[in-house]
Amino acid sequence: MGIVVRKASLDDVKGIVDVNCSGVVKWYKEVDGKRVEASYEELSVEERWSHGGPWMSIETCSIHLNYLLINNQYPLVAEIDGRIVGELELYIGEEMGVLGKSAFIDILWVHRNYRGRGVGRALINKALQIAIGNNCDTLSVWPEEKAIPFYKKVGLDKIAFKIVHVVIDLSSHIIPIGDHQFIFELPEGYDKVKKMYLISPRIESAYTVWIKNQWLYAVEEARMKIEEGQILDLEAVYVIENLWRKRREARLILWTLNLEKINKILKAIFYRAKQLGFNKIQMYIEDEVYRESIINEVNHEIKGKHVVLAKTL
Ligand SMILES: CC(C)(COP(=O)(O)OP(=O)(O)OC[C@H]1O[C@@H](n2cnc3c(N)ncnc32)[C@H](O)[C@@H]1OP(=O)(O)O)[C@@H](O)C(=O)NCCC(=O)NCCS
Repeated sequence: MGIVVRKASLDDVKGIVDVNCSGVVKWYKEVDGKRVEASYEELSVEERWSHGGPWMSIETCSIHLNYLLINNQYPLVAEIDGRIVGELELYIGEEMGVLGKSAFIDILWVHRNYRGRGVGRALINKALQIAIGNNCDTLSVWPEEKAIPFYKKVGLDKIAFKIVHVVIDLSSHIIPIGDHQFIFELPEGYDKVKKMYLISPRIESAYTVWIKNQWLYAVEEARMKIEEGQILDLEAVYVIENLWRKRREARLILWTLNLEKINKILKAIFYRAKQLGFNKIQMYIEDEVYRESIINEVNHEIKGKHVVLAKTL
């Protein structure tokens, strides 16, 4: 039985949703503020999303796949006997630092009934071909912990980043150093950001974070993005988002041109998030940057440790 891997089209949405949903054992619905078990059909699009993102429903997966395709990125599907049994999403973009021009694997999922038959490896091989064809320096991924042995086996065996997931308590006494020049819009295109360092979430490639930040889904839009902007004097670009179902906790996206200014930037942004009504802010930040930063001077919790793996091409 041969495995065929090809670029996906909108015709493949149902197959991709089936593969991604195959990993969910039980579905839940919210009734009178309580989570109760329910069938997939009983769930709203938003409730399906809450089980794993846009891939959980045909409606939102179509929007997502459309964005990938019109931005010339690479959603790939693997088929056996004409049935879609795996999906990989690959983003190609350049950034500063160890990844350079990287092909970043954002999603890799094999249908639960088809694992262990070489489907994952076939998708990785195709991603590798595309990465080489695009003159990339690296093929990279933020693996789930249980998938690390798989990625090492298929050649992504170099640790590009060690990352800590931190939640910072903004009730600490945080005062920005000096007055800063905020403007509340992002740079027009990726070109300016490409020359900066991605600070958070460092679990993805810089381009993946940038491009996905532009994509809006009606399910999430109203509740997610709170503020985006630049701190001109500190040469930083940031986005503060609301976390799903945790309205007073924010997630930070941050780039900077100058790593030496990182502590001033963090103070300015923590203060800004506090002004916006948040009491916590979460970041995925490189371990080395974290250890040297002012995060250690404020109350914070380490939620987890992660790695980004890469293969040098
Ligand atoms: C991880 C995953 C993508 C692997 O896909 P797969 O089709 O089952 O893997 P393959 O059959 O192509 O395996 C390729 C090789 O990796 C090995 N491998 C696969 N999963 C492994 C694991 N969890 N631990 C160690 N080795 C593993 C296989 O034994 C095989 O080795 P071989 O070529 O020497 O025989 C799949 O199990 C999956 O979808 N898991 C759930 C979702 C997930 O974790 N995705 C990754 C998120 S970052």
